[in-house]
Amino acid sequence: MRLDNGLKLRKIAAIRSNTSSRMSELRVFHTSTLKAEFSVPGDKSMSHRAAILGGLSDGICTIHNFLPSEDCVNTLMAMQALGARHEILDEMPAHGPLKLKLHGQSMSLSAPAAPMDCGNSGTGMRLLAGLLAGQKFNSELLGDESLSGRPMGRITLPLRQMGARIETLGEKDGCAPLRFQPAKLSSIHYEMPVASAQVKSAVLLAGLFANGKTIIIQPATTRDHTERMMASFGIELEIEGNHIAIQGGQTPKACNFIVPGDISSAAFWLVAAAALPGSQLTLKKVGLNPTRDAIITVLKRMGASITVAPDETSGEPMGDIKITGALLKGTTILEEEVPNLIDEIPVIAVAAALASGHTTIRNARELRVKETDRIATVVENLRAMGGVVEEFEDGMEIEGGHPLRGTSLHSFGDHRIAMAFAIAGLFAKGETVIGGTDCINTSYPGFSRHLAAVMSGSSDPSDYDLTSAS
Ligand code: S3P
Repeated sequence: MRLDNGLKLRKIAAIRSNTSSRMSELRVFHTSTLKAEFSVPGDKSMSHRAAILGGLSDGICTIHNFLPSEDCVNTLMAMQALGARHEILDEMPAHGPLKLKLHGQSMSLSAPAAPMDCGNSGTGMRLLAGLLAGQKFNSELLGDESLSGRPMGRITLPLRQMGARIETLGEKDGCAPLRFQPAKLSSIHYEMPVASAQVKSAVLLAGLFANGKTIIIQPATTRDHTERMMASFGIELEIEGNHIAIQGGQTPKACNFIVPGDISSAAFWLVAAAALPGSQLTLKKVGLNPTRDAIITVLKRMGASITVAPDETSGEPMGDIKITGALLKGTTILEEEVPNLIDEIPVIAVAAALASGHTTIRNARELRVKETDRIATVVENLRAMGGVVEEFEDGMEIEGGHPLRGTSLHSFGDHRIAMAFAIAGLFAKGETVIGGTDCINTSYPGFSRHLAAVMSGSSDPSDYDLTSAS
């Protein structure tokens, strides 16, 4: 049924007042249609890297479609504290910059006046640590409670091998805050024990400031945005399979960069559309980097019909994703797929609960050291909704097809848990209330607006437009 315009607007306004930040909760109800075309905000991983490489570059860079989330704004502010100022050319109302000019410092950063706050962001802290390891000044990085409990030994170990002088000041051993003293770095040959793009990127950034050639070997392929963006900034890397080498002393050349939409944010709507028979969704200009697109492969394997129309810009593939819903069936996530879709596993678990048959997710121990222990938080919330799931040390097995019921859930302060269970709420009987949803702003400003538009059944593009004030 099509709503008339006035009624539709009143319905959206009512949903928004319930889904917006009031009491920091989302109220979600069952939805039976999803026919829309919209864009999700810019990629988080690329926005962090653009802020850092732009700030190190030899001139002025314009970044388009920057992600105006708390995580990325914290990295931008850290770069500003290090001397790389920015000018905002366009912004998402009430959030932050969408388009900005970065004033590169030609690799000569200045001492920050105070500790730099990375908030909730492991990417921000670990990449900035690589940058700060080889500076001539003292500096300090801190973060919120979740970030102060996450393992930093995985970066302090290789950075100390390069000569960095880093102290971990956290209550928990090896955790943030991180204090850096001036140091001259030497190159290393580092075989990473964990498949982590953040560790790889920290060592590559430190390698830019080191004497000689730093070589990194990854145990499995991880997202390659740092390598691609370094290449866009004119930095020479030698890449052969999972071996990456960088010669120190190179200065990034200023360039303009277009950030594609974040496939990890798109994943929430891809799952919603995939699991809803009859839905038709197009997500515009989403990043399609092959080290990030396993969510598409997995949803296809589960029975969704997906087509992509790729188009290359700024060294990163992007394109429109069209998806049609179906009755999904369970699947097994392959070990080699795990690093490619690590951030999408919470919402894949929701898709699995909606599918028929079993879904197995193993070899995903890394989920336990994300913003929350995402194995525990997913299992707890799925069970609270009536899902049937067995927990393992390194993953979970979900028996799909049990009807979900609306209930009160926690985000546990984790943006991806909040959004994954908002999607589950669209399929549940009754109302689902998710508490503590401010954290969504760390990666997806505007999510509640998109959710309200989806719940209202809107296919009007203006209801999904995050560039206008809501
Ligand atoms: C990221 C890498 C991933 C991912 C995180 C962002 C990045 O972590 O979970 O959200 O931007 O490098 P790993 O370091 O475990 O690969």
